[in-house]
Amino acid sequence: MLGKVAVIGAGNVGATAAQRVAEKHLARSVVMIDVVEGVPQGKALDQWQSGPIEGFDARVVGGQSYDLAAGAELFIITAGIARKPGMSRDDLVKTNAGIVRSVAEQIARVAPDSIMVVVSNPLDVMCYVAMKASGFPRERVIGMAGVLDTARYRMFLAEAIGVSVEDIQAMVLGGHGDTMVPLVSYTAVSGIPVTQLLDRERLDAIVTRTRDGGAEIVGFLKTGSAYYAPSAAAVQMVEAIALDKKRILPCAAWLQGEYGLKDVFCGVPCKLGRGGLEQVVQVRLTEAEQAELEKSAEAVRVTQATLDGRGG
Ligand code: LAC
Repeated sequence: MLGKVAVIGAGNVGATAAQRVAEKHLARSVVMIDVVEGVPQGKALDQWQSGPIEGFDARVVGGQSYDLAAGAELFIITAGIARKPGMSRDDLVKTNAGIVRSVAEQIARVAPDSIMVVVSNPLDVMCYVAMKASGFPRERVIGMAGVLDTARYRMFLAEAIGVSVEDIQAMVLGGHGDTMVPLVSYTAVSGIPVTQLLDRERLDAIVTRTRDGGAEIVGFLKTGSAYYAPSAAAVQMVEAIALDKKRILPCAAWLQGEYGLKDVFCGVPCKLGRGGLEQVVQVRLTEAEQAELEKSAEAVRVTQATLDGRGG
């Protein structure tokens, strides 16, 4: 269990993530910080009061000042605006870069040794902004996207095959955008290659639905984007770190030559433990998957480049 986990942004993703951290007993103290006066205070008080029912002792507090988060070991960054129907995640880049930059600077001030799990969109580029603004090494700036995209993919597969989600092993790599790369060659159902259970056409349809998974929900909600699955995904990463589980999860990492990619955040298999990103796990990809990964990283780079010259 960690001493303190802080969640930046008390909107739907942030507040749900805070609740999950408390309910999973991952920290003694859970802090929610948001610029909107009263909202983090109110949500935190409400969550704290659910403790006797849910059986957790974590003290949940909220406020505007980063001083509340002083000494936190781990931060979940959810601050920023969400998509509206018709918007891509990249449409958020300018607004959210300004927000994430100032968040990361504050985190570096109050908790210089902490680990950041970034959730704000466009995800891969916001990781870059957070890493630059904080000066943290890559081990301590990790992006949540692959776990979410993989959860969607696994859910759709489980439904199509008619089996438990627990028996689907899979990984979605690449950037968190339209070019994400579900690895069909590594998708298995209790070890059975998925290609033996589903034909190519149905698999392709599931891959497409996974890529559009976030937009499908934005289309329904209209005024916001998904938050139950995104918060669950972020907290699975928090759990792997807090409990030093050494889990291998697909996360956005700052690549330094792995998979032939350099100086870009992109979703790859990562080993997560108490040190944060403990290893980028390199696996052999098919030629087509490698090409798709490179294309996906290039799309991230294009968005990243729109920020350069503005102080990163
Ligand atoms: C999604 C948003 C959170 O994929 O990016 O739902």
